[in-house]
This record gives sequence, structure tokens and C-alpha cells, in this order.
Amino acid sequence: MTDPNKPKLRSRAWFDNPENVDMTALYLERYLNYGLSLEELRSGKPIIGIAQTGSDLSPCNRHHLVLAERVRAGIIEMGGIPLEFPVHPIQETGKRPTPGLDRNLAYLGMVEAIYGYPMDGVVLTIGCDKTTPAALMAAATVNIPAIALSVGPMLNGWFKGERTGSGTIVWKARQLLAAGEIDDEQFIKLVASSAPSTGYCNTMGTATTMNSLTEALGMSLPGSAAIPAPYRDRQECAWRTGRRIVEMVHEDLKPSDILTKEAFINAIRVNTAIGGSTNAPIHLAAIARHIGVDLPIEDWQSYGLDLPLLVNLQPAGEYLGEDYYHAGGVPAVVAQLMVQGLIHEDALTANGKSIGDNCRDAVIEDEKVIRRFDAPMLEKAGFAVLRGNLFDAAVMKLSVISDEFRQRYLSNPNDPDAFEGPVVVFDGPEQYHHMIDDPALGITPETLLIMRGAGPIGYPGAAEVVNMRPPAYLIADGIHSLPCIGDGRQSGTSGSPSILNASPEAAAMGGLALLRTGDRVRIDLRKFTADILISDEELAERRRTLEAEGGYKYPASQTPWQAIQRERVGQLSTGAILEGAEQFQRIAQTMGLPRDSH
Ligand code: FES
Ligand code: MG
Repeated sequence: MTDPNKPKLRSRAWFDNPENVDMTALYLERYLNYGLSLEELRSGKPIIGIAQTGSDLSPCNRHHLVLAERVRAGIIEMGGIPLEFPVHPIQETGKRPTPGLDRNLAYLGMVEAIYGYPMDGVVLTIGCDKTTPAALMAAATVNIPAIALSVGPMLNGWFKGERTGSGTIVWKARQLLAAGEIDDEQFIKLVASSAPSTGYCNTMGTATTMNSLTEALGMSLPGSAAIPAPYRDRQECAWRTGRRIVEMVHEDLKPSDILTKEAFINAIRVNTAIGGSTNAPIHLAAIARHIGVDLPIEDWQSYGLDLPLLVNLQPAGEYLGEDYYHAGGVPAVVAQLMVQGLIHEDALTANGKSIGDNCRDAVIEDEKVIRRFDAPMLEKAGFAVLRGNLFDAAVMKLSVISDEFRQRYLSNPNDPDAFEGPVVVFDGPEQYHHMIDDPALGITPETLLIMRGAGPIGYPGAAEVVNMRPPAYLIADGIHSLPCIGDGRQSGTSGSPSILNASPEAAAMGGLALLRTGDRVRIDLRKFTADILISDEELAERRRTLEAEGGYKYPASQTPWQAIQRERVGQLSTGAILEGAEQFQRIAQTMGLPRDSH
């Protein structure tokens, strides 16, 4: 184990520093106090952190508390010493005003923990939406050997013989409730049916997306993302992950070896094929910036737009997480793309092999759930990146445009792929909830709904509030969705073809701030533009007036972190990271060790 030619592990600076016996003793004595021995800590064995994201506050990731036992077993078996530590909790469905605030906070905490404590490698326990990017961002910044372990999706939900998917059922149930077809109690039971076990959302929401993309990036074991949380295979995967991280430390296989531009392009393409969430461009941009890879938002359209949708999971399709796993998961999808030459096969992954070698022989086990490339669910299913005088960049997920929507808005033979209409503007979701059913707003099937004040600064944290249902009177007429545009995000479990993540947001004085109810807006999906149909002069005049009034108004910060994040956060198109934090790169290599503590 102790090859004299190999550089010393960084944990030795804590537990075996002959030049500073004083501090070595101090570091050693306290890590003994719950049962580790001097012999173990001084043995030169790799110390492996387990970044624990599970807790009672974060039910999606709570099963990691159990899985960590198998991770530990794997680490010890391969000659490592596990040190589990808590990560600031992030529960997508529990945190108010939005878990969007917490990704950067958890990131900061993880960077401090991984860099400031004796760790030679780290297992990142990922799952619920923001826990995955927070962990990968931190691993990128510190850049010691790191491997991600997904907690896995919940089992499929069922109600009266039909699959009920996380989140997706909520949007459906809201429509049933608004139409008077179910009452409040039935609404709650219907929604609860979608959560039958431990694990994260069983739909192709942001969690399944980000866990799949983590595998596509190469940061977790091949075939690991789709395993449902309660399956025994998940326990085995935890054990294998624990074993593998010790090897990675000996090989010095770091995030910077894995997270290359090629890996990100692979992930963008996989995202289209799986029908991934519109949160993915935000999080991948954030990870890329922390590892120093250039990944402009336009890459999503260049590499991802023209690819087909292969995975038939809700919200774009019918099936759920268990089906995805049984159909072959990420390797089966990657193999389909590989045959078309759409995967950079040499990209290195956490198991030490290339993604090509990992996935070449993967087969689709159920072609209803994962389609072959030549028989897709949908052609051209990626994200369009729109721009114009409304914003510099916003994302539209074309794979969720329904036939109803396409016929209503995109079938004019004189103006195909474009639509325009008057807007109704909401400043925040509260205003929308209070007013949407009010006939006085005059919402018709031609109306575009606008949500603003929902970005990283305005909300704060960027909330998933852009997808809005039509007023009840339109739903009763069979109008199930209206075009929605906003500077917030949208839940990956929603099937709305919204235009979201608009950057800059209204709070940063983007074009949305200048919009008024009654203005007309035009969307052109051939030119990828979104414009307010008023003159440049009037737009400039409105901007001058608003600036003179002190700018776009948003609620005051309620916590210290809200205020701090608002001062530093960037826009969604560039990852909404803490601007400036990206200057700290690969700090385990570039910053040396932190100073002694006493
Ligand atoms: Fe946690 Fe969906 S709420 S994964
Ligand atoms: Mg969400």
C-alpha cells in the first residue's frame, strides 16, 4: 500500500506529520473518541468522506442513511477508513421559499468540509434535485477523487390501476380539482399515491434527470442511476461505490479527469434522449464553471435540439422509474446514441473505463420504455434557446409540446412555428394564484401568461412557478395549457411547454420587467426569438421610467443567506452560481493544504 514513489495522501498531513507532532497528536486524539484506533488512523489507509445528504428533513435522500452502511463496508473492505459527515439538507418539496436558494449554500458547506478535513476521496450521496449539482459542484471545486452514489427513484406509484408519477400527478390533479371532478380529500389521496416508497421522484423530473446525467458525465458507476431506491441492487451498488472510491484514490482519478467538455456534450445529448428537465442546463452550467469547462447555454441547442426522445417516462411519456431501470437505464440510452456516433466514447468514467467501453454492449430490455433511435417517441426533442428583447436567453423544452398545443399555436400555414398574443403579467406566484380564475383578467386561448419576479434574485433562489394552469373556465372548455413565459424555473415533472429560466430576470432589469399586461409578444420557433411587439423607443422609455422609480420591485430578504446570495448570485443561463466562486478551481491542487488549526 505505501509505495514510496507515490505522493503522500493528503490525510497524512493531519494524522502523520513528523514535522508537527503537536498537531498530529491533536488531530489524532479526537478522531479516536468514538472507536477508531491509533493504529488505523496512522496506518496510511485512505480516509474516505461520505457526504451524507439524507435526513428526516430530506426524505428523498433519507435512504442514504441506510445505504451508507454498505458504502462503509465497501470502503473498509478495500482498505479505506470511512468518515461520514452531514450536508446542509435540501428537500425539493419541503424548503420554503425554494430549495433553489440552498444549492449554493450546500455547495459552500461541502467545499469547506472536503477541503478542510482529512479526506483523500469522497462519496457524494446524491438524489433529490439540488443535492446532485451541489455535490458535483463541490467535488469540482476541491477536485479530490470523488464518486457519486444515487439514492435511486421511488417505486412506481399506482392509483386505480394507473401509474401515478411524482409531480406529474399534481399538475393533473390540479386540473381535475379546478374542473370540479375531485374534491380536496381525493386530491390529497391521488397525489399521495405517487410516493409509495423511499427514494426520489419516480418521473423524469429533475432528480432522475440529474442522476442520469451524473452517470452520463461519468461521475457514478455505469448502470447505477436508474436502480430504484428499495431494490437490493441499490444496496449492492452502494457497496461497489464504496469499494471503487478507494481504488480511485490509489489511481488519483479526479473529477477534472472525468468532467471534460466531451463529457458535458455527452450529458447534453443524453438529456434530450431521456427527455430531461429544464433545470439541467442550469446545473450543468454551474458544474462546468466550477471545473473550468466552457459550456455556454447555446451548446444545449447546438448539441441537443435535433436529437430524438427515446425514453418513455412521464411527464413526456407514460412510464416511471422502475420501468426505466428494467428497460436498461442510462447504458441502454447511451448505446443507442453511440451507434449514431453521438457519444464521445473515450470520455473517462468513475470505474476507470471509458463510457464507450461501459455502454457498448448495453441493450434495451423493453422497447416500450426505451425506444430505439430509429423508432423514437419524438424527433427533435431537445431544448430550444430563445432570445430577443424579452431576454438574452431562455429555454423551451420542445418534447413536452402536446398535440393540442401544437395545433392551437403552431399550425398556422402562413406562419408555421410561430405564435403571438396578448400577455397577462403576474408578479410572483401569489398574484397568479389569487387572480388566475378572475374573468376580469380577460384571459382567452390566445393569451400568453407571464411570470416574473421568480428568478435567482427576485424570488430569491429562482422558484419553479413558471408553469401556470389556464383559468378554470378555459379548462372547462378543453383548453389545458396556455403558453407560459417566465424568469423562474419549472418543475421537471411538469409537462408544460413553458419558456423559462429567462435571463436576465426582471429583478436584474431584463426585458420582462418592462412588459405590461395587454402588450403583445411574439415567439418564433424557427428563428428562436421572443420579442415584445413594441418599438425600441418605447422600450427604452419604459426602462428609463422604471429605473427612475428604483427598478423592478421584489420582496425584502427574510434571512441572512437570502441577502448574501442575492448580492452574489448570477443568472440562470450561466448556472446561477455565486459569481466569483468559480475563480477557486481545483483547490486541492492549486491552494495546497489549509493551515493548521491551532
Ligand atoms: Fe426530491 Fe423530486 S422532490 S426528487
Ligand atoms: Mg422542483
